[in-house]
Amino acid sequence: VKVCEIIFISQISKSFWNSLITLQVLENLTFSMASNFARRLEGKVAVITGAASGIGEAAARLFSEHGAKVVIADIQDELAQKVCKDSDQTSTTCVHCDITKEEDLENAVNTAVDKYGKLDIMYNNAGIVGIIKSNILDDEKSEFEKVTSISLVGTFLGIKQAARVMIPRRQGSIIVTGSVSSSIGGACSHAYTSSKHGVLGLTRNAAGDLGRYGIRVNCVSPYAVRTQMAFDSLKKMGKEGWDVYSTLNGATLAPKDVAETAVFLASDESKCFSGQNFIIDGGFTIENSGFSLFK
Ligand SMILES: NC(=O)c1ccc[n+]([C@@H]2O[C@H](COP(=O)([O-])OP(=O)(O)OC[C@H]3O[C@@H](n4cnc5c(N)ncnc54)[C@H](O)[C@@H]3O)[C@@H](O)[C@H]2O)c1
Repeated sequence: VKVCEIIFISQISKSFWNSLITLQVLENLTFSMASNFARRLEGKVAVITGAASGIGEAAARLFSEHGAKVVIADIQDELAQKVCKDSDQTSTTCVHCDITKEEDLENAVNTAVDKYGKLDIMYNNAGIVGIIKSNILDDEKSEFEKVTSISLVGTFLGIKQAARVMIPRRQGSIIVTGSVSSSIGGACSHAYTSSKHGVLGLTRNAAGDLGRYGIRVNCVSPYAVRTQMAFDSLKKMGKEGWDVYSTLNGATLAPKDVAETAVFLASDESKCFSGQNFIIDGGFTIENSGFSLFK
């Protein structure tokens, strides 16, 4: 009503100042409408593992901007505290959580429930690459077990603990961080590829299991994202470019690109998606670059 009145007055007087006021009011209105629409996780409560750095950190910041209460669950306490301090402190909490320990995940989930009243979103993101060897004969069993115990078993424990509190409420969105190594071989170590294939299988199984309670489970699978982990592993593999295999010119992934997909999966906009693998790779996995016609 106010906008219409001002437009009307400004049309009558045709004065410069009234037109300026009209524009200002319209701009404010557009901004406030946009920010209301933009807060896509308003009222939701999330636990994000591995949120002290990289993709998890970007997700914690973005979830918070979208109005979610966020529990940052990581082993790097100082970094986690920094993310908390930078975010809205009334809506962000840190807990020390080693995802190989079920009691730590239980505590992270309980913290969300005790502090914010419920758990809507569980983002199982923490994972490690481990030592990369290009020959299986050089791979150590202990290293294989370390990578899988964090990236695969830790994800299983996270899903289980989230399900414990989501089942009684008959709703929830569980997100898992996969990788292009969830669907192809040869991009990383045996341990990492096995773990990431494993978390995709787990996503599908858990979606089948938890769907009857209204709980969705989806996997987000990026190619190389600009984080410390990727810098280290690409260096070890002797790769220089980030977009070396991407078919999409200019598609160089930043942590926020992955976080944006997670916001969609965490929000009600994705209410009909479950058991899916969202591959974010600029087309890396859709063709065999060795045979490509389109170089
Ligand atoms: N960066 C990439 O190119 C890329 C590509 C595909 C998938 N991923 C996956 O994305 C996820 C996040 O990786 P990132 O690139 O942000 O790396 P990152 O190293 O920046 O972040 C990983 C976070 O996990 C935490 N973490 C490690 N072990 C943990 C444990 N036992 N318990 C709790 N937290 C633990 C670390 O402290 C760190 O904060 C991983 O699952 C990784 O496999 C990364």
